[in-house]
Amino acid sequence: MNFNTDTKKCVKKGIVLAGGAGTRLYPSTISVSKQLLPVYDKPMIYYPISVLMLAGIKDILIISTPEDIDNFKKLLKDGSDLGVNFTYAIQPSPDGLAQAFIIGEDFISNEPVALILGDNIFYGQSFSKMLEEASQKVSSEGGATIFAYKVKDASRYGIVEFDKQNKVKCITEKPENPKSDYAVTGLYFYDGNVAEYAKTLKPSKRGELEITDLNNIYLKNSSLDVKIFGRGFSWLDTGTHASLMQAGQYIKTIEDNQGIKIACLEEIAYKMGYLTKDVIRQNISRYKNNDYYTYILNLLK
Ligand code: DAU
Repeated sequence: MNFNTDTKKCVKKGIVLAGGAGTRLYPSTISVSKQLLPVYDKPMIYYPISVLMLAGIKDILIISTPEDIDNFKKLLKDGSDLGVNFTYAIQPSPDGLAQAFIIGEDFISNEPVALILGDNIFYGQSFSKMLEEASQKVSSEGGATIFAYKVKDASRYGIVEFDKQNKVKCITEKPENPKSDYAVTGLYFYDGNVAEYAKTLKPSKRGELEITDLNNIYLKNSSLDVKIFGRGFSWLDTGTHASLMQAGQYIKTIEDNQGIKIACLEEIAYKMGYLTKDVIRQNISRYKNNDYYTYILNLLK
């Protein structure tokens, strides 16, 4: 996990897109952002932030709605408690995932960048290694790396179509008759051209700037790499009340069985060498005496 971001070429910037209307989870999300709802023992957004941190990314832009952005600031502040740097931007209305790169253009400033959706949970062995490989590939060779995962209900996602040689043929957003079961997950690494490409996109039929159209630009340029998450890997959905509860159960089961926490940001900050034990001990005083606090304290012993 501890790859040295100072000596190796790697992606240094990341965006968490945490906007959207969240209507599928109404009434739970009328007054609170979906990405702030708990997934078992921590807010949902901790999970995608943990992914960026595991990728060695310390410069993180959080994008959310005008109504919700202040609650994210209240939770995450400037990131110094975690040895990272959070900045914030508003997406006035949910006009598509690819809009993140237009909103974040100044933040990106033509450098490679990762995007993760604020409601996506990833968990599995060798994940850090895959992140490291994607990060190094995109920052040294350019292009884009995205990740695909076999799903049951392919028509709900962006789907990767393969030709007879198993080469990626195209990506189709929510196809009625999917040509494969491999969904594009909400984690993407792009080179410094991404904002320029995003600006050329036109809204789709559903009125959004589609990340799938952006990925197809990279594919056309022969610079799209699609990595597959294998069957031992988990990519969890949090889009419905049932799947949100199942995700929480999944996290609880693993945490209970193994006595570890998934996406404990302080633990990752410590293991990545971002903060010393003493600083973390001081920073966690606001959690005093709960299970999250004790876990971190024991870890630092
Ligand atoms: O989850 C992976 C899928 O995400 C991909 O397979 C699809 O290719 C991609 O288009 C996207 O699918 P959805 O269209 O189903 O994503 P959804 O509209 O649910 O948005 C994903 C998250 O991003 C959600 O938490 C809301 C947030 N969001 C969405 C939009 C459209 C924003 O913050 N801003 C937006 O403009």
